[in-house]
Amino acid sequence: MKIFVSGKGGSGKSTVSALLGMEFAKRGREVLVVDNDESNYGIHTHLGLDLPKDFMYYFGGKKDLFDRTEDIKDGMETENLPDEYLSKEGNLGLLAIGKIKEYGEGCACPMNVLSGEFLKSLSLHDEEILIVDMDAGIEHFGRKVEDGADIVLLVIDPTRESIKLSEKITEFAHNIDKSVYFVLNKVDEETETIIYESVDENKVIGVIPEDERIFKASLNGKPLDFQLGSVEEIVDSLVEVEEKVLRPFKS
Ligand SMILES: Nc1ncnc2c1ncn2[C@@H]1O[C@H](COP(=O)(O)OP(=O)(O)O)[C@@H](O)[C@H]1O
Ligand SMILES: [Mg+2]
Repeated sequence: MKIFVSGKGGSGKSTVSALLGMEFAKRGREVLVVDNDESNYGIHTHLGLDLPKDFMYYFGGKKDLFDRTEDIKDGMETENLPDEYLSKEGNLGLLAIGKIKEYGEGCACPMNVLSGEFLKSLSLHDEEILIVDMDAGIEHFGRKVEDGADIVLLVIDPTRESIKLSEKITEFAHNIDKSVYFVLNKVDEETETIIYESVDENKVIGVIPEDERIFKASLNGKPLDFQLGSVEEIVDSLVEVEEKVLRPFKS
């Protein structure tokens, strides 16, 4: 199952991706988290893993990426991913597409082309979970990167921008032709109620309250390795979607 985690900057994409990844791994699933945000570095810390080498260098680095699109389209299987680009502990792995590192180095387009094709053509085993921590906002929807997803998870924090983004994604949903779900994040009782007034509640797959442990672990650069009932419930629901929607004919 391929899960793409989207949302506005700061909504909690990396946090949610890491928490889901660790919970799936705890349940014995083979998990690959892909850091697809060219601007942020945090997710390896959330997962308690080392920062892997940028995967774009496997394809020759940023300037050669456009020429290699056909190779990338050929597809890969997770077991053939080169070890030197993977950071791994047990059944939890992390791959980072690439980061902007220098002032004036140009746009992130080559990395985005790589990630779009790579994520679409990567083949998973039946029990494997791919969790993609997407770049902020909506640009990747314009490039149809979500074609590679089974499930699009939109993280909604208590801001008007997030609500607006959810409206936009709902509008896209029938074109995306994917299961689109919302995770309300960093909410309390009051803000949760306000969000529910504005978003399609049938799409809400889970709610993660504002939690000081998350915030402090992040601030201190510590892994998010504590148990959260809210995250367990989201993983239960995702497994249900996997069983009922994504492979209903499997015996
Ligand atoms: N449920 C939560 N409770 C408290 N703080 C949170 C929660 N989710 C995310 N945060 C904090 O919000 C900030 C942004 O989260 P992050 O996952 O980096 O967002 P994004 O990846 O969408 O930019 C971080 O400081 C993170 O610790
Ligand atoms: Mg992030």
